[in-house]
Amino acid sequence: MKPIKLALFASGTGSNAESIIRYFEHKSTVEVVFVLSNKVHAPIVEKATSLGVHVVVCSNQEVEDTSYLVQLCQAHQIDYIILAGFLRKIPDTLIQTYPEKIINIHPSLLPKYGGAGMYGLKVHQAVKEAGETESGITIHYVSEHFDEGQRIAQFYTTISETDSPDEIQQKIHQLERTYFPIVVEKEINRFIQ
Ligand code: GRF
Repeated sequence: MKPIKLALFASGTGSNAESIIRYFEHKSTVEVVFVLSNKVHAPIVEKATSLGVHVVVCSNQEVEDTSYLVQLCQAHQIDYIILAGFLRKIPDTLIQTYPEKIINIHPSLLPKYGGAGMYGLKVHQAVKEAGETESGITIHYVSEHFDEGQRIAQFYTTISETDSPDEIQQKIHQLERTYFPIVVEKEINRFIQ
């Protein structure tokens, strides 16, 4: 059987993109075809290249274009798109071309601490300021509205009073590394069956 083809979109450090690349590296069922980044100097660009994955760097205008990403993904026969710290809004045309095939990870328990402008440390600072005793990650399909697509899975971690936003972020990254690749694989298997 032909492998399911993934495209990973990432704008930053790329720890999630890296864990997905490594997870599927030796599995014949899934192929990471390319990593797309809108930032040429993002650490993920070098990371993916050193892991032997093709990297596509594009401009923000290209991301906003209604046909660029659709054509790119179709030209590579992409089945699933995984957003791993991708900070631009996905055009509706791509969402309509790939219904329930674009998966995002958000570093909070949505619907809390989601929406435009809620990313990175800002999320964990807000969680801290609110005095939350738990936080977590949400893996969900991408819809036309930021962080509002149908949820696939959530995972929790406890937060102690003394945890700083940085420490909360570390706990969240740990959850992401552990669960994101597994959940993506489970979704893909659902598609294959
Ligand atoms: C992660 O916390 C993820 O939940 C969010 O953006 C962050 C990206 O981190 N969408 P990294 O670039 O994968 O290290």
